[in-house]
Amino acid sequence: MTDDNRTPVTVIGLGAMGRALAGAFLDNGHPTTVWNRTAGRAGELAARGAAVAATPGEAITASPVVVVCVLDYDAVHEVLDPVAGFLAGRTLVNLTNGTPGQARRTAGWAAGHGAHYLDGGIMAVPPMIGGTGAFILYSGSAEAFGAHERTLGVLGSAMNLGEDTGLASLYDVALLSAMYGMFGGFLHAAALLGSEGIPVSSFTPLLVSWLHAMTGSLPEMAKAVDSGDHPATGSNLGMQAAAYVNLLEASRDQGVGTELVEPMRALLDRGVAAGHGGDGLASLVGLLRAEPVKLHG
Ligand SMILES: NC(=O)c1ccc[n+]([C@@H]2O[C@H](COP(=O)([O-])OP(=O)(O)OC[C@H]3O[C@@H](n4cnc5c(N)ncnc54)[C@H](OP(=O)(O)O)[C@@H]3O)[C@@H](O)[C@H]2O)c1
Repeated sequence: MTDDNRTPVTVIGLGAMGRALAGAFLDNGHPTTVWNRTAGRAGELAARGAAVAATPGEAITASPVVVVCVLDYDAVHEVLDPVAGFLAGRTLVNLTNGTPGQARRTAGWAAGHGAHYLDGGIMAVPPMIGGTGAFILYSGSAEAFGAHERTLGVLGSAMNLGEDTGLASLYDVALLSAMYGMFGGFLHAAALLGSEGIPVSSFTPLLVSWLHAMTGSLPEMAKAVDSGDHPATGSNLGMQAAAYVNLLEASRDQGVGTELVEPMRALLDRGVAAGHGGDGLASLVGLLRAEPVKLHG
């Protein structure tokens, strides 16, 4: 395997993300071959110099590095299983969103066909690809990452999480969980403000500043989770559970649905019932885990 700034690359899947990935490779001078299930989505890329393969097999054999970015893992296997024999000796980089289990099974499948496998989680939206704000999580073959780090780096900062292939997906879904928690909070807050006819745009600067302030407490909460020591530092769980009731009652009074905020109430109550009323909020993490785990490193 080699890596210079001209390594030929194949991109399979030309949805919004696949087109952005292929475009970044072209922008950086990589001979780029593309394939998509539905023909006709490669027009702009072809005009910029991409070779359009007629079949997935032709796409794979065109390059030592094959990036696949389709809707889900079922689609990955639908496209690649019939042509897996062509993957031997190549590096397959799967940037399709999935689960750690899917990534680990696909790594085993790729190894069975003699391919080097990297799984990836894209932490960016298509317009960010190739720019400084994009980062992509990778896990899997150390050899493949070392050989192609520079090529993959044209898509966005390449962050290697090591040889356990499931880790990129695990980090990806963990980051998305926190993101959706924040967006869910925004949706509920916007509905509350809207119930009084207040423009959400006028409230958002205050919300952003509040969220910034609250993220400051995350490192301390993380330490508490890791150590299992949960000092309340002024905001114990019992107090928060009592105040949370007002959030629900106010929502109902304002005619706002509570489906986004009910689960937290249930967890807070469970925490108090389990004797964590005097502890900090991070003690709730223990209630979410099926069983205690040993920390890495
Ligand atoms: N867009 C984002 O903001 C973003 C961000 C991070 C990660 N991702 C991940 O990137 C992946 C692609 O997302 P996208 O935004 O490009 O989605 P998209 O625009 O909906 O495109 C989906 C792609 O998957 C292909 N596909 C779907 N089912 C298929 C099948 N059974 N066989 C072969 N090809 C199939 C589609 O082919 P056709 O053209 O033939 O339908 C198309 O190329 C997803 O896993 C997504 O979660 C996306």
